Amino acid sequence: MTEAEDHGITLLVAQYFQLIDPKGLAIPPPCILKRPSVQAQIYNEMFDEDTLSPIIPPAGYRLRVLKNIVTRIEASEEWDPEEDEIIESLMTAFTTLMSQPPDPSYAADGKSTPQLSFVKYTLPQTPQSQDSVVTSESRGLLYGFGSTGFRTWEAALHLGTYLCCTETGQALIRGKRVLELGAGTGFVSLLCKKHLDAERMLMTDGNDKLVELFNSTCLKANKLTDDAHIQGKVWEWGTPLFQEESSPEQFDIAIGADVTYDTAIIPLLMNTVSTLFTSHGVKKFVLSATIRNKDTFGAFLAACRKYNFRIAKFPYESPPPEDQIGFFHETRIRICTYMVEP
Ligand SMILES: C[S@@+](CC[C@H](N)C(=O)[O-])C[C@H]1O[C@@H](n2cnc3c(N)ncnc32)[C@H](O)[C@@H]1O
Repeated sequence: MTEAEDHGITLLVAQYFQLIDPKGLAIPPPCILKRPSVQAQIYNEMFDEDTLSPIIPPAGYRLRVLKNIVTRIEASEEWDPEEDEIIESLMTAFTTLMSQPPDPSYAADGKSTPQLSFVKYTLPQTPQSQDSVVTSESRGLLYGFGSTGFRTWEAALHLGTYLCCTETGQALIRGKRVLELGAGTGFVSLLCKKHLDAERMLMTDGNDKLVELFNSTCLKANKLTDDAHIQGKVWEWGTPLFQEESSPEQFDIAIGADVTYDTAIIPLLMNTVSTLFTSHGVKKFVLSATIRNKDTFGAFLAACRKYNFRIAKFPYESPPPEDQIGFFHETRIRICTYMVEP
């Protein structure tokens, strides 16, 4: 296999573990897919439940992807049913997946437990890098269970890409005590502690289910259970971070992704940022925002002016989706990153 072909499979595997829509996966051409060695690699790295579980996409997703791959091979002009074959392990995986009942969808009442699955995000570094962050989330859930945080949003993937891929981004986190606000799945917090050398990482969110999920399932899935320097904590903006505030914990930097999506929450958010500046030693708040609505973002800028905060926009754009090799995300709606300082 050439280096380019190998990168093609690596890219497919990375997209698959991030549960990218099967229609948008970069599936290599049939001339490559029909090789038994490539099929064996695809089986081993994507469908071998025995070695990959529990961090493997849900059965329904696996079936859709495998069906695409098999159809792509068999429908090609280069396919000769007399000569070529799909290897047995891949065919067995296919028939097993077809015989399984469909994945349960989450409860429509939005009150019971969400249907969560592990999502593995590959770092956007070299194509060979296997480094990843694993979350537990409900990819298609925009709002449910009292929060918008049960999926990782594009602004978090954008911020993660900036922090990973630029020297200025890496320097913001390396050796620093970091607090994340409205962390949702905790994707950025996990990234900072696992791969960007944060000295201390406090993931916070107002939703207790998200924080519980982070502390139990996500720390374990990322082999961070024994790291005393990372935790998740329920923190509702506008309330004290710790009840015992005589010597409040100090941080160097606060971060937040997609926390300015609603004008109603901005006054509370900015009040909270102000408290972080005055009582928790925070010197910078780095915010990544999807600019869906000018009014909402305008309200954020106005609140910064009200508090006399300095605000500067980073001149950073995520690469377009076709050039992404990890932390895959849409860039059609603009995402901007800002530094807010007291
Ligand atoms: C759009 S989600 C973003 C989640 C994550 N940062 C991301 O980008 O994937 C907004 C998050 O802010 C949290 N949040 C909203 N209002 C909050 C409040 N008043 N106090 C604490 N967290 C809040 C929600 O629970 C949710 O997890």
